[in-house]
Amino acid sequence: MTLQVTQLCKTYAATQVGGEPVRVLHNIDLQVNAGEFVAITGESGVGKSTLLNCLAGLDDWQSGDIVLNGDPLSTLSADARAHWRRDHVGFVFQAFHVLPHLTVAQNIALPKMLQGYAASACEDAVNELLVAAGLTGMGNRLPEQLSGGQLQRVAIARALVHRPQLILADEPTGNLDPETGDRILHLLRDQAKRTQAALITVTHSQPAAQMADRTLTLSATGLSPQRL
Ligand SMILES: Nc1ncnc2c1ncn2[C@@H]1O[C@H](COP(=O)(O)OP(=O)(O)OP(=O)(O)O)[C@@H](O)[C@H]1O
Ligand SMILES: [Mg+2]
Repeated sequence: MTLQVTQLCKTYAATQVGGEPVRVLHNIDLQVNAGEFVAITGESGVGKSTLLNCLAGLDDWQSGDIVLNGDPLSTLSADARAHWRRDHVGFVFQAFHVLPHLTVAQNIALPKMLQGYAASACEDAVNELLVAAGLTGMGNRLPEQLSGGQLQRVAIARALVHRPQLILADEPTGNLDPETGDRILHLLRDQAKRTQAALITVTHSQPAAQMADRTLTLSATGLSPQRL
């Protein structure tokens, strides 16, 4: 998938009466090609998670557009966006959002189940990802029985299971030791190359930024190549 963002602007409405609106994204331009891995850095609160949410069609914006394989996201209805997201986006949330009452294996299988696959048809893909994410033997556990770093890897496996064309990961190695983080970044990058997905990760980790094809820094004035 190719992703093209042009002049994207987003302001959050004031959160209280008499409060100020929060201008977050200003004239963001970004192009990511199929199979490309782009890392985004930037200060806390600058709008990185907001940008990923817009790219996934989870949030609205005021002007500019996001075009995926030639189709502008702004022209899709809310329903069409939800379908598009289900079929084409893998999202690793900063706060994981793992469902507490499902086992690890069920959490990972969820995107495929939502596409209508039976649990039995998801088994091979789930088992492959359990191994690749270093979660062998943990498929039947509940999330409360995992460590923070293990939960993060469940969220990553879940984002990859349906082979999405757009992979968005918000600090995917934030809770991992360097070695495990490295393994997870390889997993994300290898799948993106293999499936020709566009991969965008938000990261503060230097190794992650180094593994990317390009690293960009988000600031109040826009997105620019990382200054070394
Ligand atoms: N729903 C919301 N309503 C109003 N303001 C919001 C909302 N969500 C986020 N913000 C504000 O928008 C700005 C950008 O938030 P965002 O979560 O995108 O930052 P971030 O770059 O991901 O930060 P971090 O590195 O800490 O995760 C922040 O100032 C935040 O307080
Ligand atoms: Mg964030």
